[in-house]
Amino acid sequence: MQQLRPFITHRQIADKVAELGQRISHDFRGESVVLIGVLKGAGFFLADLARQITVDATFDFISVSSYGDRTQHSGEVRLLKDVDQTLGDRNVILVEDIADTGLTLSYLKNLFLARHPRQLKIAALLDKSCRRIAPVSIDYVGFVIPDEFVVGYGMDLAERYRNLKDICVLESSSSAM
Ligand code: IMP
Ligand code: MG
Repeated sequence: MQQLRPFITHRQIADKVAELGQRISHDFRGESVVLIGVLKGAGFFLADLARQITVDATFDFISVSSYGDRTQHSGEVRLLKDVDQTLGDRNVILVEDIADTGLTLSYLKNLFLARHPRQLKIAALLDKSCRRIAPVSIDYVGFVIPDEFVVGYGMDLAERYRNLKDICVLESSSSAM
C-alpha cells in the first residue's frame, strides 16, 4: 500500500513561488520574458509563477518523454511537443517541476541554446540535487529536497496525484494484517 506524507504545503509553495516571481521580475526589469513549461508536471508551477511576474511575459509549453509508470529514469529524453514560437533573441526561462538526474534539463538547455536566445535561465520548483547525473545549473530553485519520490502540485506517479494542493512524499507501507 502507498501512503501520502505531507511534505511542502500549498502555503509554503505559494510563498516560494512569489519569491521566485519577484527575483525574476527584478532580474528582467524593463525587458520581456517567455516562460516555457515542461508538460505536464510544471503546469501549475508555471501558472502560479507567471502571475507573480510583473514584467512583460508570455508562455508556452513543451512535452518530453517521461518515466511512464516507473520511478526510475530511462536515461533517454525525447521531445514530443515543441514550442509554437521562435526563441531567437528572447529572454527564455525554462520552467520545470523538479530536477532529478538533470538529464531532462540538460537536454532541453542544449536544445534551446541552439536557437540563440538572448538569455536562457532555468527555474525548477524542486531540486533533488543529490541525484544529479548530468550537471546543470538552475538559476531559480524553489526547494532543495532529499532523495524521496514526491507527488502533488502537478507531479505524478503514473498520472495520479497531480491535483493534490500540497506536495507529498509517496511512502510504501506494509498493511497491518
Ligand atoms: P530528470 O531528467 O531525472 O532530472 O527528471 C526530471 C523529470 O522526472 C521531472 O520533470 C519529473 O517529471 C520527473 N520526476 C523526477 N523526480 C520525481 C518525483 O519525485 N516525483 C515525480 N516526478 C519526478
Ligand atoms: Mg517533468
